[in-house]
Amino acid sequence: MSAKHAALTVADSGKQTELPLIEGSLGPATLDIGRLYRDTGLFTFDQGFVSTASCKSAITYIDGDQGVLLYRGYPIEQLAQNSSFLEVAYLLINGELPDAGQAQVFEHEVTHHTMMHESLKTFMHGFHYDAHPMAMLCGVIGSLAAFYHEQLDIDDAEHRRLAAIRLIAKMPTIAAAAYRYSIGWPIRFPRNNLEYCERFLHMMFEVPSEPLHLKPVAARALDLLFILHADHEQNASTSTVRLVGSTGANPYACVAAGIAALWGPAHGGANEAVLKMLEEIGDASQVARAVQRAKDKDSGFRLMGFGHRVYKNYDPRAAIIREMCHKVLDELGVSDPLLDVAMELEQAALKDDYFVERKLYPNVDFYSGIIYKALGIPTSMFTVMFAIARTAGWVAHWLEQSADASTKIGRPRQIYTGAVRRDYVAVDRR
Ligand code: CMC
Repeated sequence: MSAKHAALTVADSGKQTELPLIEGSLGPATLDIGRLYRDTGLFTFDQGFVSTASCKSAITYIDGDQGVLLYRGYPIEQLAQNSSFLEVAYLLINGELPDAGQAQVFEHEVTHHTMMHESLKTFMHGFHYDAHPMAMLCGVIGSLAAFYHEQLDIDDAEHRRLAAIRLIAKMPTIAAAAYRYSIGWPIRFPRNNLEYCERFLHMMFEVPSEPLHLKPVAARALDLLFILHADHEQNASTSTVRLVGSTGANPYACVAAGIAALWGPAHGGANEAVLKMLEEIGDASQVARAVQRAKDKDSGFRLMGFGHRVYKNYDPRAAIIREMCHKVLDELGVSDPLLDVAMELEQAALKDDYFVERKLYPNVDFYSGIIYKALGIPTSMFTVMFAIARTAGWVAHWLEQSADASTKIGRPRQIYTGAVRRDYVAVDRR
């Protein structure tokens, strides 16, 4: 028996197998159970994938116990301090930071794919006037396959690269258009003389009748939020993109599926849920009551923006965002009573045994909603903002998977708990 294998004997049957141990460059060794069924007739069960790696990936590393997050090996704190969202997107996709020339070419390509096909506007007009922007984003991104079907050969590396650029470039244009449609404003074209985040803010808020004056901190804060949200290894939406991608589906369908998964309140919908919760609590004096309710399992109420499947320590992104949150409110001169509620809630939860014992710390979404609110972004757009940023991660994972010849269709097994075999009964005898 080599040190790189673990022996397993099944008690009842005496069947034996040797399971290889796979070691990554960081993180725990992983038991490769691929041959378990063939050798022993057993499946494994791991609800919610708590102990199961679904793929090999060289993109992002998280150590949830230590509060570490690395994109391609670079600590999130250093990227937040020194980089930009587009540079991070390049890094996630290509594995290395770009040199000056590569950065320029990438920015030029993204900038020149920001336009939306005119027919897409007609498509958007099919939505009901008060459609949720996430519903619109999901539908419109999925529909892009109908516009670029001549460059959809997923075995062609250039087609794949182009699809990734198009998704990163068009996501803000479509997101802003969804918002403007929902409030009855005319859709704005992307202004290509602006940078990625500034351009998005212009598409969101500029009206034809007067110029828009933005304080530089607004685009800076957005860029930081996008860096922090750009990737998070095999989270639910990225795993969804990979699962759909494993079937050979086109990248627009994969990313539309990722958007749908992100919408849930346990995932990307949490930033919207945080704001709703803070508004519901209303006042710092009501925080203690909310904490009590969150501890009562019968209440069905959880503190939104607290806890994380992977981080059982302070979410490193939350620490960075907390600082930016104060900067944005100061520089924009926003005084927001919800921030007082948020601070009180954070302090109360950090001191409370229930939250301490379960290692429930504020996560990235706890502060992002407050920043978005200060920037004038409506609550219904919060998860859309997350989707714009996470597109970088989704396409990086899709590209990695698509270039990997060992990729297999993702097809989990199940434990069947239904009726055993029985015969059909005619309706008059039921
Ligand atoms: N408030 C109160 N109790 C909580 C919370 C919370 N936010 N989160 C977890 N718990 C309790 C839970 O009731 C359980 O208690 P017990 O051991 O007594 O049964 C224990 O903590 C472990 O919870 P879990 O549900 O087994 O943990 P999980 O890893 O399955 O869930 C989570 C992780 C993020 C879904 C969960 O913490 C949660 O619902 N948080 C609120 C929603 C939220 O903020 N989501 C955003 C996640 S970060 C953004 C992203 O990556 O998408």
